[in-house]
Parts: sequence; structure tokens; C-alpha cells
Amino acid sequence: MKKGFFITIEGGEACGKSTQVNLLKDYFKNNFSEDDYLFVREPGGTPLAEEIRNLLLFYKEEKPLPITELLLFCAARAQNTHTRIIPALKEGKIVIADRFYDSTLAYQGEARKIMDKSQLLNLTQTIIGDLKPDLTFYLKLSPEEAFKRKKSNEALDRIESEGIEFHKAVARGYDYISSLENNRFCTIDASLSPEEIFKIIKSEIEKRIN
Ligand code: TMP
Repeated sequence: MKKGFFITIEGGEACGKSTQVNLLKDYFKNNFSEDDYLFVREPGGTPLAEEIRNLLLFYKEEKPLPITELLLFCAARAQNTHTRIIPALKEGKIVIADRFYDSTLAYQGEARKIMDKSQLLNLTQTIIGDLKPDLTFYLKLSPEEAFKRKKSNEALDRIESEGIEFHKAVARGYDYISSLENNRFCTIDASLSPEEIFKIIKSEIEKRIN
């Protein structure tokens, strides 16, 4: 069986993740055949998972309980992983995911404190088996800096709207999980310019896939 390469991009709010994903899309478009790679995002990536994303981020009728929130993220992940990510990796593709289970460890684990890390990893394994990213970029930005970057007129989703203490806990979560897996994580100072960040990402990807 051919084995692809699985890249994930992680970080707290306003860390510049979307800009880097867009730069990566251009880079892959210009340097690879479109059969060689797949971009996905979480929550989302399939029609059903995109609906779950809307419920998670924008549903106004009722606030989800923390456990409901966790299970909805997991449901979206199950759908996206089994119908898109794993088949693409089996075909030998490079898969680039805008967030994956490290987001759950940081947001639902460290910040919401729904379950501890080992319980969340057990749940994750039940849902997606042994799949693990080969390379994870963590765009590290202090929550104080992230809050400065948010524009006051910007419409924020339910999770973005959480206060600074929540986002400090998310940052602690990422700092902790990235410190445990040095080989998988490439931590980048997200206060650098988008061009500087992209240079690091590009060179790391080229080193690993060539
Ligand atoms: P995005 O805006 O970066 O696409 O991410 C959507 C939001 O969902 C973001 O606030 C992080 C949050 N999130 C979690 O809380 N847990 C998860 O497992 C994932 C994938 C995202």
C-alpha cells in the first residue's frame, strides 16, 4: 500500500493560519499535479461535516454543553477522516489539514477541561484509529497579541468570542502537546511576517517530502 504524507496546521485564534493555508494552496497548485494532494479543514471537509461546523460555530438557539461540543467536533472528524483523509493517504497523496485532533486537545482538553489528555486520545483513537499527522506546524502567538490582532468590527464565532483566559489555556495546551512530540511538531513564531513564516513552512515541507 502506498503511504501518503499527512500535514496539519494548528494554532490559536488570529495566528495567521488562514493566510498560510492560502499560501500553501498556491504553492501546491504551482508545484504539484492536483492528483497529488488534498486540502481539508476541521471542523468540516465534507458536506455533513461542514453542517456540523455551522452548528458548532454559529448555532444561536441553544448553547451546546461542553460534552456536546466535543462530540460534534469528533463527529465531524470521523466523517472527514474516513471519507476523505484516509482514502487520500492510501492513494499516496499529501494531505494538508487546517486543524486536526491537536485542536481538540488544546480547546476541549486544556481550555474546556472536558476530559484529560489520555481520555481524549483514547476517544480520538476510537474514532480515527492510529492515524497521526507526520508533520504539524504550530503557529505560536501569545493570546495578548492575538487579541490585539482581532478587529473590533469583526464578527466572531462562538469559540473566538471566548475571553482571554480561555485562549491563554488553549495556548498552554498547544505549548504542552508540542513539547511532547518534538519530531512531529514544527513550532513557528507567528509574530513573524507571513512571508517569513511561509519560508519556514515551505522549507520544512520540502525537507520532509523529498
Ligand atoms: P478555524 O476558525 O480555525 O477554522 O477553527 C474553528 C474553531 O473551532 C476554532 O475556534 C477552533 C475550534 N476547534 C475546536 O475547538 N476543537 C477542534 O477539535 C477543532 C478542529 C476546532
